[in-house]
Amino acid sequence: MIQVENLSKKFFLAGNPFYALDNLSFIIKPGNFTCISGLSGSGKTTLLNILGGFLHPTNGNVIFEDMDIHRLSDKKASRFRGGNIGFVYQSFSLIPQLTVFENIRAPLLFEKHGLKNAEKKVKDILEIVGIPEKINEYPFNLSGGQMQRVAIARAVIKNPKILMADEPTGNLDSKTGLGIIKLFKSLNTKGMTILTVSHDQRFIDTADENLVLSLGKLKKKKTKKG
Ligand SMILES: Nc1ncnc2c1ncn2[C@@H]1O[C@H](COP(=O)(O)OP(=O)(O)OP(=O)(O)O)[C@@H](O)[C@H]1O
Ligand SMILES: [Mg+2]
Repeated sequence: MIQVENLSKKFFLAGNPFYALDNLSFIIKPGNFTCISGLSGSGKTTLLNILGGFLHPTNGNVIFEDMDIHRLSDKKASRFRGGNIGFVYQSFSLIPQLTVFENIRAPLLFEKHGLKNAEKKVKDILEIVGIPEKINEYPFNLSGGQMQRVAIARAVIKNPKILMADEPTGNLDSKTGLGIIKLFKSLNTKGMTILTVSHDQRFIDTADENLVLSLGKLKKKKTKKG
């Protein structure tokens, strides 16, 4: 589904260049559950942002089903992302002035005929993430785990081919985190490809494939099946 070829990202630290990602190549197969782990500063967020099309690499390509996503214009890239990728930011990024319903519906506003059946779609997805009763609440009335569920619901409302998430259990207690991992697993069982950044051992154990980053290099790859 995604083919990463010789990917590098150079940043500057006090005027000196360094590689946050150093010549990575790997493949994400459709239907797989992949977890990227590694120490703080190893390049995980940088990699996810490049795979999601939010940040351009210095070198290398990201081929998403034959499409070289970093060669698209910004407008085309954003349309491509909207149709294919669901993205969960580490900090939830919910819009505080909007209710749960309005936050989850937001991606549909940018689609032709997006509002058709929007209410049913939001209700169905809230049922799946397990907080149907919160539909009319505002984010500040939710717990961290509930906000994370809303962020995930918003990311999957358009049924993307792949769900990308940056530390989706990072701010959650152990039990709430387990609920999120189970939710990802069930989305995966229904056919969604999952790519998550996490150092949560339970995510690492659940994943089919583990990519470990160390100082911007791919250190080891553990594959559970296939
Ligand atoms: N825009 C930027 N400009 C300069 N350096 C950056 C930029 N973004 C990230 N970096 C640096 O690149 C390296 C990798 O950062 P990244 O955020 O990808 O790490 P991470 O693995 O996600 O860390 P964490 O686990 O703490 O979230 C770090 O040294 C960071 O300081
Ligand atoms: Mg990070």
